[in-house]
Amino acid sequence: MLKLGVVGYGYWGPNIVRNFASQAGCEVVTVCDKNPKAMAQVRSRHPGVRASDNSDDVTTSPDIDAVAIVTPVSTHYELAKRALENGKHVFVEKPFTATSAQAQELIELAERQRLTLMVDHTFLFCGAVRKIKELVDEGVLGPLYYYDSMRVNLGLFQHDVNVIWDLAPHDLSVIDHLIGLDPEGVVATGGAHLNGFADVAYITLYFPKNIIAHINVNWLSPVKVRTTLVGGQRKMLVWNDLEPAEKIKVYDKGVEAGTRQGVYDLLMSYRSGDMWAPRVDQTEALELETRYFLECVASGKTPINDGRAGLRVVRMLEAADLSLKHRRDIALSRRTRVVGAPPSVPPAPVAAAAEPARSRFVAA
Ligand SMILES: NC(=O)c1ccc[n+]([C@@H]2O[C@H](COP(=O)([O-])OP(=O)(O)OC[C@H]3O[C@@H](n4cnc5c(N)ncnc54)[C@H](O)[C@@H]3O)[C@@H](O)[C@H]2O)c1
Repeated sequence: MLKLGVVGYGYWGPNIVRNFASQAGCEVVTVCDKNPKAMAQVRSRHPGVRASDNSDDVTTSPDIDAVAIVTPVSTHYELAKRALENGKHVFVEKPFTATSAQAQELIELAERQRLTLMVDHTFLFCGAVRKIKELVDEGVLGPLYYYDSMRVNLGLFQHDVNVIWDLAPHDLSVIDHLIGLDPEGVVATGGAHLNGFADVAYITLYFPKNIIAHINVNWLSPVKVRTTLVGGQRKMLVWNDLEPAEKIKVYDKGVEAGTRQGVYDLLMSYRSGDMWAPRVDQTEALELETRYFLECVASGKTPINDGRAGLRVVRMLEAADLSLKHRRDIALSRRTRVVGAPPSVPPAPVAAAAEPARSRFVAA
């Protein structure tokens, strides 16, 4: 019986506590939150569980074997480090840490202590992603062309990170899982409209083998959309996570480039076959993931969502942040140049004006 302590009982913490508490091999012994309202909820929902407002009661307690950290990302490193130093296995929320240096340090610490370190990449355990992984690995889609995701809704605004760090880890962990390669380049653009943190962003990742991924994340959308396209040479699929029954639709559609008979003569042949919706397991992802954590602790096996997987996601997030800043600087300086063009310049002929402007922008 693994004795578990949880730090953080805000929006996501209750899901973690409920799922660990429902596992046969686990007892949730302590839940900690510094917010008194959260503590009151713990006491009313889980009368047998000790409630505390001091994280040391979880991370250093001798009667706790493992710690789940469900607090904002800015606190993950300190809490995880303290738990690992005190010999606890750690289940930590996404994104793993605020920097890749912190992630690296925690990975080394866990390895030295021979402790399980798992990052909550929840989507790897949902039925839809497990099915997509199967289709990719079995070659049903053929060599991958692209992953294109839209993950938008109104809020919830996080106070310590931008929308990329809040929402993109889901897609980045799925992309990492499906493609299994490090990206060669990351480009991000976006805008901050309310609290100084980007709340709308567009991230493009370039992978080897000519695979491209694009993620649109947005806290300012009037509607919630969770739609992803995955395109391969043989088949393409649409994953709509808000669809209750047919979450994935696989299309036997594709395009083939025929023989080139001249520079401008590329013959395209389009294939439009059947569509099918494979059965998707509806088991709650966290139920499977928390069970998997217990299995990994018991067997000592390395989880698919270990610290290294967490680090790969943090590296992509850091690259996106860097690009976001540079892109904005570049875009603004260029925009200033265009807007600031002296009014006395006589208008150039339309065609001649369009060309240099377009090439200047592409070069940004
Ligand atoms: N895997 C998922 O699908 C998923 C979904 C939502 C959130 N999350 C992640 O879960 C984490 C928490 O997000 P949230 O939305 O629940 O945030 P939240 O702000 O709603 O809750 C965080 C809670 O942690 C408490 N807390 C913060 N620092 C603490 C400390 N040092 N000691 C004790 N309590 C502390 C706060 O009082 C708060 O109640 C984030 O990393 C977020 O990215 C993951």
